[in-house]
Amino acid sequence: MANFTNQTVFITGAGSGIGRATALAFAKDGAQVVVADINEKTGKHTVQLIQDVNGRALFVPCDVTKPAQIEQAIQQTVDTFGRLDIAVNNAGIGGRFARLLDQTADDFNQIMAVNVGSVFYGMQAQIRQMLTQLEDDQSSRGKIVNVSSIAGVRGMPMGAPYSASKHAVIGLTKTAALEYVKKNIRINAICPVYTHSAMVDELISAAPSMEERMRKLIPIGRLAQPEEIAQAILWLCDDANVLFTGQALQMDGGLTAG
Ligand SMILES: NC(=O)c1ccc[n+]([C@@H]2O[C@H](COP(=O)([O-])OP(=O)(O)OC[C@H]3O[C@@H](n4cnc5c(N)ncnc54)[C@H](O)[C@@H]3O)[C@@H](O)[C@H]2O)c1
Repeated sequence: MANFTNQTVFITGAGSGIGRATALAFAKDGAQVVVADINEKTGKHTVQLIQDVNGRALFVPCDVTKPAQIEQAIQQTVDTFGRLDIAVNNAGIGGRFARLLDQTADDFNQIMAVNVGSVFYGMQAQIRQMLTQLEDDQSSRGKIVNVSSIAGVRGMPMGAPYSASKHAVIGLTKTAALEYVKKNIRINAICPVYTHSAMVDELISAAPSMEERMRKLIPIGRLAQPEEIAQAILWLCDDANVLFTGQALQMDGGLTAG
């Protein structure tokens, strides 16, 4: 496994679930981690968990629907740690479980603002910083991972806005990867299957039969754990895997193989 010693990693939505597991995994592997989240309490808790094992981390309050706050968060990252090596655009919301005709304009706009806006404005701020670093040092490399979903490669009944937003994340990822491949910046997406996190566990506690239905859908017979998704994100950021760019890596326990 890679060693990320002295690399600076910026992660949105790192106060919970996949984002928190990714923050802890990078910190364990030597990185200094910026935890960007709208939720100050959970974001600061992630920082505490990292500091408890002698890691380096900073909490930055950030609403990813606000481009100015993303710019500010990246600036704070650079002011504190001197550079930005890796960004994980992970913050996201699931939205309401309802058929297309029952989804409102507000449902649609909110999901697009969080799940797509975060990746669009996030990559703008992150790539701008990575290009500045490249001007100073031609060997500088940047890596970005955007968190899509299995719903980004197939339809998701009862979740049209969510599925649309996660398809959009893959489009942004592939396009940006092609535009900046010659600038030492690799950009990939990851597409997890149902994963135990606040997002899914809330759904399950509201309707316990959901878990069994989800398990039946996934050939491996269980949901993913956030730590498993985190390991794949680290792998995508490993400089040994330099041929990987513009990919949408499906972590789905076999779901899309059939
Ligand atoms: N859990 C799953 O089954 C699953 C599957 C596929 C993809 N995903 C994706 O993984 C990502 C992480 O989700 P999770 O399952 O860990 O959920 P989670 O609810 O545990 O974590 C989401 C985090 O994003 C933060 N967040 C929400 N809105 C924000 C905003 N406007 N600005 C900043 N931060 C904000 C929350 O505070 C929270 O810390 C999401 O993009 C989600 O769509 C999740």
